[in-house]
Amino acid sequence: MSTLGLCIRVDDEIELRLHELRYAEAYHALVVRNIEHLREWMPWAAEEQTLEGIKNFMSSSMHRFADGTGLPTNLWYRGQLVGSIGYPRMSWQARQAEIGYWLDKDMQGKGIITRATKALVTYAFEELGLNKVEIHAASGNYRSRAVPERLGFRQEGTLRQTVWVNGQVYDMIIYGMLASEWHPSTSTSVLS
Ligand SMILES: CC(C)(COP(=O)(O)OP(=O)(O)OC[C@H]1O[C@@H](n2cnc3c(N)ncnc32)[C@H](O)[C@@H]1OP(=O)(O)O)[C@@H](O)C(=O)NCCC(=O)NCCS
Repeated sequence: MSTLGLCIRVDDEIELRLHELRYAEAYHALVVRNIEHLREWMPWAAEEQTLEGIKNFMSSSMHRFADGTGLPTNLWYRGQLVGSIGYPRMSWQARQAEIGYWLDKDMQGKGIITRATKALVTYAFEELGLNKVEIHAASGNYRSRAVPERLGFRQEGTLRQTVWVNGQVYDMIIYGMLASEWHPSTSTSVLS
């Protein structure tokens, strides 16, 4: 992994770029095309997604990066915008970050999110000097839960009846990784 300006290169195929207004139209089109897929698990997707709303989200993402409370990025695969990943929350005081993500439905199954998550965990520990990374997922969201499990995160706890999607409530499963436990090269055999 290497960084250049506001871009994190994960590997030959994957790149993470800070949200910027110049990506708003492409990002909006991607969200709209995936809206039913996103509504399965992302509570925010229940609302209509307007271009104006996406621009506001991107502006607030840039502010959160500037004031050190988050690092939300858009995700590129072989030069194509395919999703979003980043730290929706960060705390310097607690020295920890949370990772969240979503991916174009047609791009699932290639390890894109697992590879990008691995890079963001390494970035948190090695570049930012944080101590802990968490990933939160609804109990029924097995594809999402598989990402931290594949990377060797520990399942630390359950917040009962916390995630409401499509009129149903799920427990929130909390996964955690400490800097002292992180060994990216040996975390799983499917990773390149
Ligand atoms: C959750 C979500 C991002 C997971 O996407 P995904 O494609 O399953 O995850 P990855 O990109 O890491 O791909 C993993 C798959 O690629 C395979 N793979 C191929 N190459 C791989 C590699 N180098 N490394 C890891 N996995 C690899 C894995 O075996 C796995 O396949 P499987 O699904 O058949 O078991 C996606 O389903 C999504 O966007 N869902 C809707 C939004 C959402 O739920 N977000 C999370 C909210 S908490």
